[in-house]
Amino acid sequence: MTDYQYYYELRSRLAFAEKRLNALPPDDVISRVCLEAQRDAWEKRLAACVESGVGVGSVYITHWGKITMGGVMAGQDVTAGFVGNLSEKLDIAAAMRLDGKVALISGGARGMGAVEAGLFAREGARVVVGDVLEDEGRAVVAGLPEGAGVFVRLDVTSEDDWRRAVDLAGECFGRLDVLVNNAGVSAVGGIEDTTAAEWDRVMAVNAKGVFLGTKYAIPAMRRAGGGSIINISSQLGIVAMGESSPQYIASKGAVRLLTKSTALQYAADGIRANSVHPGPIVTPMTEGRRGDPSVQELMVSRIPLGRYGEAVEVAYGVLYLASDESSFVTGSELVIDGGWVAQ
Ligand SMILES: NC(=O)c1ccc[n+]([C@@H]2O[C@H](COP(=O)([O-])OP(=O)(O)OC[C@H]3O[C@@H](n4cnc5c(N)ncnc54)[C@H](O)[C@@H]3O)[C@@H](O)[C@H]2O)c1
Repeated sequence: MTDYQYYYELRSRLAFAEKRLNALPPDDVISRVCLEAQRDAWEKRLAACVESGVGVGSVYITHWGKITMGGVMAGQDVTAGFVGNLSEKLDIAAAMRLDGKVALISGGARGMGAVEAGLFAREGARVVVGDVLEDEGRAVVAGLPEGAGVFVRLDVTSEDDWRRAVDLAGECFGRLDVLVNNAGVSAVGGIEDTTAAEWDRVMAVNAKGVFLGTKYAIPAMRRAGGGSIINISSQLGIVAMGESSPQYIASKGAVRLLTKSTALQYAADGIRANSVHPGPIVTPMTEGRRGDPSVQELMVSRIPLGRYGEAVEVAYGVLYLASDESSFVTGSELVIDGGWVAQ
């Protein structure tokens, strides 16, 4: 981020915090405390920027398609003409693809969820990281820019936890625009080896967890004027694999169609829902498989690109669906699998 991007990011965060503070009901003490702390942090950083001369005479684009041009002289807005070249400005816009948005990511303590939290924050979002892994989740938030994230203990199978997580997004950041239903568990074994309890365990996290997250996020998104729900399914939500477990495949297939059902039911509210279908990705979930040479060989032999994907390669797809760049995309499937389902 250049100095003047940083400067304007601070200005936009400060303005947003002030707007939210002004809109708060007088008895909403928790939100007030959160927002005042954020506002103070932004004010302090902005003051340091102005003191060092950053932001003087710079220009800014706030959003794709919404170009704001203005210079800043000694901290004051002045209207200016179009300064600099367009591609540079579009780069700036692209660098802040989630400016002003608030996202909740389940399973954000490690793996793909943690990478998405970092990427979202870098792109201007405030992020609620939810997970059952508390220490890891707090460490992810500690690695985000100051004031950009908050951790909440969230077991996605619990309705109370979802209520709390969605409420926290409102209390700390004033709104909820994006939900990434990312939490998931894997499983092994064939149909005859699988107990009913094991079936229920996987379905509870991977399928019911997505349903509950969707259910509790929607009212908050409606209040925000719309939103984007991104459900992490799998390439195994599109095609089966004899060596994988029935409950994992069934849960990911359920996510795929629940996503389309959500997209249709809430399109009129401006709420989009899309599923993402990663192939084998390097994360803690696949550590065991990657450590076994015969399994590793089998998996790689099925990936036309000849390798596992990296978490960030999925995160960029999730970022696109979270941003307004995908404003005409709903009910769709984004496959990020090295070519697996093309076969
Ligand atoms: N890694 C892959 O190859 C791959 C491929 C396709 C799809 N996926 C899916 O991507 C998503 C992320 O997977 P990953 O590879 O980053 O896995 P991971 O195991 O590294 O991370 C999953 C996260 O979900 C959390 N989680 C598990 N149960 C939870 C619960 N009940 N409540 C809240 N959080 C819970 C875990 O604590 C963990 O932080 C999962 O839905 C997974 O099924 C993974």
